[in-house]
Amino acid sequence: MPKQHSPAVVFDPVGGLHTRDVSLRPAGPGEVEIDVRAAGVCHSDLHIVNGDWPTDRPLVLGHEAAGVVTATGPGVTSVEAGDHVVLSWFAPCRKCRKCIAGQAWLCTGTRAVANTLPDGTTPFRDAQDEEVWPYLGLGAFTDRVVVPEAAAVKVPDDLPFDIGALLGCSITTGVGAVMNTAGVRPGESAVVVGAGGVGLSVVMGLRLVGADPVVAVDLSPERLAVAERFGATHTLDGRATDVATWCQEELGGMDYAFEAIGSPRVIETLPAMLTSGGAAVLVGMAPTDATGAFNLFDLADQGKRILGCNYGSSIGALDIPKLAGLYLAGRLPVDELIGTVRPLAEAPAAFDDLRASAGVRTILRP
Ligand SMILES: NC(=O)c1ccc[n+]([C@@H]2O[C@H](COP(=O)([O-])OP(=O)(O)OC[C@H]3O[C@@H](n4cnc5c(N)ncnc54)[C@H](O)[C@@H]3O)[C@@H](O)[C@H]2O)c1
Ligand SMILES: [Zn+2]
Ligand SMILES: [Zn+2]
Repeated sequence: MPKQHSPAVVFDPVGGLHTRDVSLRPAGPGEVEIDVRAAGVCHSDLHIVNGDWPTDRPLVLGHEAAGVVTATGPGVTSVEAGDHVVLSWFAPCRKCRKCIAGQAWLCTGTRAVANTLPDGTTPFRDAQDEEVWPYLGLGAFTDRVVVPEAAAVKVPDDLPFDIGALLGCSITTGVGAVMNTAGVRPGESAVVVGAGGVGLSVVMGLRLVGADPVVAVDLSPERLAVAERFGATHTLDGRATDVATWCQEELGGMDYAFEAIGSPRVIETLPAMLTSGGAAVLVGMAPTDATGAFNLFDLADQGKRILGCNYGSSIGALDIPKLAGLYLAGRLPVDELIGTVRPLAEAPAAFDDLRASAGVRTILRP
């Protein structure tokens, strides 16, 4: 019987961004097959397309997605066919020291960042029978995927797929940066530089924990308006304002400064936004070879801290259902994060939306 192929959005170091037909092998031991219903376009996909994070192999992009389980391989116990799931892009190995210590976001055994399944294989092949690899072990810009069980997190059936998709990356990262990485407390102050899907989720998380004041900085008036509706008390145009000077003069320095762009030049300015003892939280992901410079005397003298943040220091299996519950209870009104909804065939336009910061989060529907 000829293999069934489906279109997938692929980035290839030679051919660039394109659509390629791929076939999917069945779920093996410890794997789950999922019908993808919605996938968000995150800047971490764009980093691949822009060459910030070089790849030597063709990748099916897409790592922020939700869908329905269609089949499970031998030994899978946490989900079954028909379950609604959010895909978690940092599937932990559950065996390494970090996993055992309850720090799944630091897992050293995951193969997700090598863009393979845990056994080092890919479930995708193209029409020439060449391997095509799943970005972050998922490759969600296609209609069906096979992922490790640890990447398929069961959520309530009444959670909208678009919201589920964003729970897969931006919301869990942004809210987790506030609650887990930084541990912001009520009444503490924060500035968030970059108000895309991730930065707006940071703003939402800050409102949830009762931070005040909350300053949002972006170059897009449209995104700053959304930040205001999400609870920012002040908004600043990053082009027109020296943000560090403004934070010191107007608010006496901030307890927390979040960066949600991935810009080395912006990251360098974070410590100067802080009050003594404050923390800079690096949520945006810079190019792999990026370095930066700070005033080292000020950092030590003022007891300032710099915190790295991978996946909002979240444990997908715990934090994704928790955030889904907060959304369904009306405590995390992130509907406005959903921007344009496009068919998969419009992926190039979706990347253009992201480059131009047009709308908020673009969702692709396979
Ligand atoms: N830490 C993690 O685990 C994790 C998870 C997901 C995404 N990320 C990273 O977070 C970053 C943001 O992702 P996103 O999907 O929200 O991106 P996005 O492109 O939607 O948002 C970035 C925003 O930054 C704004 N911006 C750009 N330059 C600016 C400047 N100089 N001053 C102020 N604002 C500026 C843009 O207008 C845009 O609104 C990316 O680097 C992405 O890779 C990290
Ligand atoms: Zn992402
Ligand atoms: Zn691990």
